[in-house]
Amino acid sequence: MNLKRLIPHSVKTRYAIRKESSQLKQVPKATCDVGNLKTLTAADLYQIFNSETITSDWNGLTPLREEFKLPNLKGGVNPGDQRAIYHLLKGLEAQSVLEIGTHIGSSTAHISLALRDQPHPKLITVDIKDVNDPHSKPWIALNSQYSPKELVDKVGGSAFVDFKVMPSLDFMRNCQDKFDFIFLDGDHRAFTVYQEIPVALKLLNPGGVILLHDHFPENVPLWSDGKVSPGTFLATQRLKNEGHSLDILPLGELPWGTKLNSNVTSLALVTAANSH
Ligand SMILES: C[S@@+](CC[C@H](N)C(=O)[O-])C[C@H]1O[C@@H](n2cnc3c(N)ncnc32)[C@H](O)[C@@H]1O
Repeated sequence: MNLKRLIPHSVKTRYAIRKESSQLKQVPKATCDVGNLKTLTAADLYQIFNSETITSDWNGLTPLREEFKLPNLKGGVNPGDQRAIYHLLKGLEAQSVLEIGTHIGSSTAHISLALRDQPHPKLITVDIKDVNDPHSKPWIALNSQYSPKELVDKVGGSAFVDFKVMPSLDFMRNCQDKFDFIFLDGDHRAFTVYQEIPVALKLLNPGGVILLHDHFPENVPLWSDGKVSPGTFLATQRLKNEGHSLDILPLGELPWGTKLNSNVTSLALVTAANSH
């Protein structure tokens, strides 16, 4: 029997917070330039998520999306988050995206769908593992029928999607490109997210957006399963406590279902302070 399963999630969360807080303390203080961050408000998000045009585009994608046969609860973003990312990219008219954390390509496929009609689309997706390895085929063990690369091919995105296999910080610190939208969904531990956000800020085009996944405000569970991943909240709290003029705007409840019979999402935007 796996004894860890008997430990209540509240105890696991307290332990994770202690461990991650102590690792986070070891990281030297970061400097952040939020000058390129877009100011987005809850009202902007309401418009984007309730846009009839984007909804109609999304509905038209159903046959293609059904072909993806993406598994649920295997670490990829859930169907409600797939739609939220699609709406955001369409609503913001983003052309260039950096994604950290490719995994089974659930978000990669939907980012590609949102970009493919843009005049100059570009997506770089980074994972520390070779998620498209033709020998080990890691997607099979996760009950996914297609590799992330095959999903991108289905979307018609092979010409504008670039897969990179390396740690996020190594990639971002050496990256010469700039992006309209950066999605951070890789290592969610506090000490990594604390370092990723300042580097991601440097890679933004003016008016750019950073989207976080697995943000649990105040480290309170969002769903009935009681689970909390504390890293993103701890990292962003430290950045705020240190006086960096950024804020976090959790997307909260979406107009459609996400997971565990709810509309709640752990997606959150990094915004300039006092902008909402
Ligand atoms: C939660 S999954 C991402 C899910 C993905 N966005 C999707 O929707 O399918 C996190 C991924 O981040 C990768 N990862 C973990 N640490 C990383 C790091 N330091 N740099 C880059 N990728 C990392 C993991 O290998 C894993 O594939």
